[in-house]
Amino acid sequence: MLQTNEFSGKVVLVTGASQGIGLEISRQFAQLGAEVIMVARHEEKLAQAKAKIEPNAKVHIRACDLSDRENIRDLFRLVREDLGRIDVLVNNLGAFSEKLEWNAIDHELWMKTLDTNTLSAYFCMVEAADIMVANGISGAIVNIGSSSALQLKRGRLHYSVSKAALHTLSRVAALDLAKHQIRVNVVSPGPTQTEAVDQRMKDPVQREQEEIRLRKIPLGRYASTADIANAVVFLSSSKAQFITGAILPVDGGYTIGETV
Ligand SMILES: NC(=O)c1ccc[n+]([C@@H]2O[C@H](COP(=O)([O-])OP(=O)(O)OC[C@H]3O[C@@H](n4cnc5c(N)ncnc54)[C@H](OP(=O)(O)O)[C@@H]3O)[C@@H](O)[C@H]2O)c1
Repeated sequence: MLQTNEFSGKVVLVTGASQGIGLEISRQFAQLGAEVIMVARHEEKLAQAKAKIEPNAKVHIRACDLSDRENIRDLFRLVREDLGRIDVLVNNLGAFSEKLEWNAIDHELWMKTLDTNTLSAYFCMVEAADIMVANGISGAIVNIGSSSALQLKRGRLHYSVSKAALHTLSRVAALDLAKHQIRVNVVSPGPTQTEAVDQRMKDPVQREQEEIRLRKIPLGRYASTADIANAVVFLSSSKAQFITGAILPVDGGYTIGETV
């Protein structure tokens, strides 16, 4: 059980924080005393998300498209100047994209997927680690991967590759950053009940696909955003101080195999 002040005095940056899993991660860190920087592209959505977190929490919002290296540099320049430190980075941002045959992915889509899902996390890690090392902070980085990198499906080649690359990138970074006592781990969600899933359920064809997927989850339900955030907070906390380079599936057994 974590103390309610586990993260007090600490600065936590969460990407893709304006909805879904990122919003819940931000909410949980704020509840445990952290000063939280929530990042996504649209300021208005971020403001609405901030309003869902308790009013006394220390929460900043920053609108930034993280698929661009220069934007990431600017974002962390602000973090350095305004807050002077960062203790936890959560690379939650990730864009799912439409189903495509394996040979139909053009160069533009490859680059867009990798820029958004993989390279944004890499450059955020580079910037955050730089601030942590300069300030002697034994920080934690948690990257949000996906069961799609572990349980492969036709039609999702680009997404699966981008997340598999993120898993490996995280483990390599864990090796490199261990000498600074900076830990890097992955939380790998399975199907999670977010606004996007709620939306799919409104369409009869997509609902049928979702119901098939649901039957493949051994524990019999989708993850809640809280299930994912609980794992992120744990891996960022003092309770996980000897865990680095781990890939933790939070998927109700989805990636173990099929039960039927
Ligand atoms: N939901 C699932 O079932 C599931 C399963 C496995 C893994 N995951 C992973 O979990 C993570 C969160 O998923 P989610 O379903 O909660 O996501 P989501 O609902 O699609 O939210 C994505 C967030 O990222 C922001 N965003 C998108 N592109 C951005 C960019 N270029 N720069 C900055 N921010 C950007 C969005 O806000 P703006 O549009 O305002 O930028 C939003 O806040 C992702 O990495 C996803 O791959 C999800």
